[in-house]
Amino acid sequence: MSIQVDFKHAESFVQDCEFEAIAPQVALAHEMLHNRTGIGNDYIGWLTLPTDYDREEFRRIESVAKQIQSDSDVLIVIGIGGSYLGARAAIEFLKSQHYNVLPKETPDIYFAGNTISPASLKELLMICKGKRVSINIISKSGTTIEPAIAFRVLKDFLEKEYGKEEARKRIYCTTDKAEGTLKQLADAEGYETFIIPDNIGGRYSVLTAVGLLPIAVCGADITAMMQGAADAQQAYNNTQLKENPCYQYAALRNILNRKGKDIELLVSYEPCYTMMCEWWKQLYGESEGKEQKGIFPASAIFSTDLHSIGQYIQEGKRTIFETVVLFEKPKYDILVKNSLDNADGLNFLQGKPVSYINQKAFEGTVLAHHDGGVPNIVIQVSDFSEYSLGYLIYFFEKACAVSGYLLGVNPFNQPGVESYKKNMFALLDKPGYEDAKQQLKARLKK
Ligand code: PA5
Repeated sequence: MSIQVDFKHAESFVQDCEFEAIAPQVALAHEMLHNRTGIGNDYIGWLTLPTDYDREEFRRIESVAKQIQSDSDVLIVIGIGGSYLGARAAIEFLKSQHYNVLPKETPDIYFAGNTISPASLKELLMICKGKRVSINIISKSGTTIEPAIAFRVLKDFLEKEYGKEEARKRIYCTTDKAEGTLKQLADAEGYETFIIPDNIGGRYSVLTAVGLLPIAVCGADITAMMQGAADAQQAYNNTQLKENPCYQYAALRNILNRKGKDIELLVSYEPCYTMMCEWWKQLYGESEGKEQKGIFPASAIFSTDLHSIGQYIQEGKRTIFETVVLFEKPKYDILVKNSLDNADGLNFLQGKPVSYINQKAFEGTVLAHHDGGVPNIVIQVSDFSEYSLGYLIYFFEKACAVSGYLLGVNPFNQPGVESYKKNMFALLDKPGYEDAKQQLKARLKK
């Protein structure tokens, strides 16, 4: 077992009978998922992906990653939402938030197309000038405006730098196997293409080429990552709530939600987990936040954020519960040295590893927050390896699907995401949006 879930800091907030009451609902959610009878069942390819992924494509991903490592100083990964967050989260988790500036033999990796900020694109162009650049454009629909705009700009940059023919060899597309404008463009231009399976939605796609190609480029062992996910697939294929920590997490967050805990704060004591929190926020927010229901997914890095939102967590509105992701082995450690003048009064910590102090910060905080009325779920992960990451990803994906079914929503669609797009396209004079445009303009003028 690469991860363990500890509920002891949440137990006083729930009764055994609440677990007993929800157990049959969990068993039903398991059946719906595994028999593919639940709502949204067209999108559960991720459930068995760790064991039935396309081996031929996987080898191609590894070989293209090696190619990019050998001919590029910079890889630009263009995508948004599910076509962005998983890769960035994994790279920062496995390597560092400072991956690009730390000494290494693999290319820098920048992410574009996840914002419409012109400054962010312009800065990227400045970074790329004079460097050997490759692009991985990722979009399942191929029509998402943020990555499409970034791709226009960066493709133009590449073609000017290298000429069309060389640029073509440096552009890799990850998209739908048959449909969408990106697929058409890739076919027309002859770009090397990877497939996003039909039955896997964006936020569940990190273990497809969407995540695996950029992750492999940073030098990570994607085989170990898939093995971790495969072992989690087996470990969590158990309908019994008592024996399945993944389902216990899904059940407990629903029990807490039914008692007015509307906000889940995912917490880590490691800054390299920041983007994993962002990935998790999309996974849970997009899966559950619908039909006026859902737990609002928020995140914090401690102890950093104890100095900003710590006051609210301790004493604000009692609608929060926390899920803390802890690591048994730190990535690195540093010992506190003796100081001759002891000006800061910290000599009592002499010889102690900084990881020990971080651990005590966690222990002090979990007890304080518990006493302040904040239930805490603690997920213990053994280390920062690819294997553990794959395991953790699968844990959260499966818990999310079961949790969505417990909540009574379709955890695999995201109808609400279209609303802002519709308005934006109308205001941008996209053909076909004329009626909506008049109404929106009138409202903005008021
Ligand atoms: O989870 C999702 O489905 C979304 O976040 C999408 O991944 C995101 O909107 C990007 O879509 P696409 O890959 O079609 O460009």
